[in-house]
Amino acid sequence: MPRRSHTAVGMRSPTGCAGVPAGLLKETREAAGLAPSLFVALLLLAAGATVAGASEQTGLGSEPTAEELAAAGYTVFPDGKGLPAGRGTVSEGKAVYQQFCAACHGRNAQGEDAAALVGGRGSLTSERPRKTVESYWPYTTTLWDYVRRSMPYESPGSLTNDEIYAVVAHLLNLMGLVAEDAVLDQESLPTIEMPNRDGFVPDDRPDTH
Ligand code: HEC
Repeated sequence: MPRRSHTAVGMRSPTGCAGVPAGLLKETREAAGLAPSLFVALLLLAAGATVAGASEQTGLGSEPTAEELAAAGYTVFPDGKGLPAGRGTVSEGKAVYQQFCAACHGRNAQGEDAAALVGGRGSLTSERPRKTVESYWPYTTTLWDYVRRSMPYESPGSLTNDEIYAVVAHLLNLMGLVAEDAVLDQESLPTIEMPNRDGFVPDDRPDTH
């Protein structure tokens, strides 16, 4: 492989766009059967295109629909605003937890390869603070939002809303915050207070830039 193709590929485009990994470019170019110089010329052309036209130019990806954008742009606020409909019980959540979470967080959420989710309450001001959801997080709604966005680690977005209510109910039960027969939904979840709710203070130091 001639060295100059690497040099060319590593260049910044005139539009100032950062480069794409050279290995990927090489594979793409080879797959397209293009000579290095022609390929670089095409890349520079493509870099000048608008973002909206990018998928047409490259044949990659697609414009998100309004529904897709709405689904991705969700936020659940501390007071529960943004929580969707759904419900889940502690016992349903135990099953969800054992199937989808226990391998990493431990059978009782005490921590395994991934962080402990329970325990550590009251330790934050001690010499050995243990930051967990139980000891540190101020709102149950944040736990709900976090699980929906990012867990299970290898397949975020795969749980239904009912399963998320259920697994959160199970975790809150392990923390002693809800009873064994609790049912959580968008009304009841925000009413449960986390132990460290009042442990945060506004940072009134001046902004630094
Ligand atoms: C494959 C391993 C894996 C699985 C399965 C998994 N997690 Fe996690 N989880 C992680 C890792 C790793 C982190 C830390 C992520 C980070 O900091 O970016 C994490 C972080 C978290 C946190 C935040 C903890 C903190 O204190 O910051 C919560 C809450 C959580 N997971 C809940 C769950 C729940 C509920 C499930 C099951 C639905 C689950 N996880 C399944 C690996 C996993």
